[in-house]
Amino acid sequence: MSLLPIAIYGDEILRKKAKEISNIDDNLVKLVKDMFDTMRNADGIGLAANQVNIDRQIFIADVSMLEGYEKFKPLIAINPKIISFSDEVVTIEEGCLSLPTLRADVVRPAELKLKYLDLNEEEKEIEFEGFIARVIEHEFDHLMGKLIPDRVDEKTKKKLSNVLDNILKRQFETDYPINIK
Ligand code: NI
Repeated sequence: MSLLPIAIYGDEILRKKAKEISNIDDNLVKLVKDMFDTMRNADGIGLAANQVNIDRQIFIADVSMLEGYEKFKPLIAINPKIISFSDEVVTIEEGCLSLPTLRADVVRPAELKLKYLDLNEEEKEIEFEGFIARVIEHEFDHLMGKLIPDRVDEKTKKKLSNVLDNILKRQFETDYPINIK
């Protein structure tokens, strides 16, 4: 099992738009395996490659431990594109492995249609709803260089400012490896 250190709010890689993947090779297969190890070790349900310092457009998600999602197969999305969003929005509390200690209500579309490549280089176009839609929207944001604080209103952002300052100062503890500052 290989655990990769997780980038933390303040690390530049989290703010860059990730680069497209041009070929699906053994290195990518290895990366996916390491990402799953890293995510599960941290009790995460989603992880984007730039969160583990890899500047590539791929994210994973696994919500099968959540009630009602037991049959959900782990998702590996390469070069993902959001084709459409529903007009309906929902408010759900989010956390992020790159923002330890932070929790915030975030409003996002309830459903979306995602186009992506899987590890077999097969193109998929799938509609998602419910909690998995939320995880995908959050992970897709990572690949675009966006984080939870970019998705809340000014008032909420002000309320979060102390928490964000403490994260920048690395005043928190995690039980998973993170980037050395
Ligand atoms: Ni996140």
